[in-house]
Amino acid sequence: MTAEWKKDALVLGIESSCDETAASVVRGGREVLSNVIYSQIDLHTLYGGVVPEIASRKHIEKINQVIRQALAEAQITLSDLDGIAVTYGPGLVGALLVGVAEAKAIAYASDLPLVGVHHIEGHICANYIEHPDLEPPFLCLVASGGHSHLVMVRDYGSYEIIARTHDDAAGEAFDKVARAIGLGYPGGPKIDRAAREGDSHAIEFPRGKVEGSPYDFSFSGLKSAVLNYLNGCRMKGEDFSQADVAASFQKAVVDVLTEHSVEAARDLGVKTFAIAGGVASNSWLRSALQEACDREGIRFVHPSPVYCTDNAAMIGVAGYYEFRAGYRSGTDLNAVPGLKIGEKQGVFIPGKNA
Ligand code: KG4
Ligand code: ZN
Repeated sequence: MTAEWKKDALVLGIESSCDETAASVVRGGREVLSNVIYSQIDLHTLYGGVVPEIASRKHIEKINQVIRQALAEAQITLSDLDGIAVTYGPGLVGALLVGVAEAKAIAYASDLPLVGVHHIEGHICANYIEHPDLEPPFLCLVASGGHSHLVMVRDYGSYEIIARTHDDAAGEAFDKVARAIGLGYPGGPKIDRAAREGDSHAIEFPRGKVEGSPYDFSFSGLKSAVLNYLNGCRMKGEDFSQADVAASFQKAVVDVLTEHSVEAARDLGVKTFAIAGGVASNSWLRSALQEACDREGIRFVHPSPVYCTDNAAMIGVAGYYEFRAGYRSGTDLNAVPGLKIGEKQGVFIPGKNA
């Protein structure tokens, strides 16, 4: 821990990796003083998914406003801050660059330390916000639009991937199936809602397995099975029930995510299990994991839905722990669209590996 890093340090988090422009002020790595999110969802809904260039243009338009609001709601000014944390990957390069350039400009002009944060590590750190007593080690299921991973959090900033998807991410499967059954974008919340009216046993969809990697995920077979089912209905001139397909598909995803998570948690002997990412706000997944963890005697923690989907509070939290460990970024910090979990590019400990 660097001597100058205060326990109650104020960090401004900035997030712009996809279609949310967000800024947040976090105190002491746990207390969220403000959490401002400008969602571009309505804009992208017109096109059935995120259009990268439109996302970048909207970020540039909104980012100053969102940061100003985050500071105002936290009742502070830039001079009260101790550091700035920004998502620098993974994500859409043009979108990431807006946040990175903004963070660098503020850090330079205000003479504040800067640190680049991994978006997915941020999602995992969202669990610290509402569980003040949560400390590593714990196992975390990360399920978002681009990731489906089981990650062992060994310590603050120390991550080991236990399982990954071999094809689609869980969120991606939700989005593709939603589009196929006419629910549109964003798929996850719409399937979650439609499934409440449906029968999850109406259609028997496959539960993907990966030969030789018992914890890994595969969702492409499930997605194809849904598409085949819909084609079959069309060819027979039959209607299909949107709610039944949504419920049967969601049940298949939830079953696999829950089973693999609990198996890994049991085998690794973990006492605490967490979830993160947009799919972690899924109502069936949360209750299935709660039940399974209760059965196994494992503590189950999860962020509120607002901290599951993209936000900047999670970046402020992750940034706090990066700062505390001594990490800093310079004015050469760049966006890294394909950044891997645990990897650092342009984030270093001064005097050590700079
Ligand atoms: O974490 P996130 O906001 O952005 C990424 O980092 O990708 O996750 C977005 C993903 C989308 O695929 C969206 O459909 C999914 O999370 N999602 C959900 C729900 N809410 C969002 N999936 C299932 N059920 C939900 N309630
Ligand atoms: Zn995300």
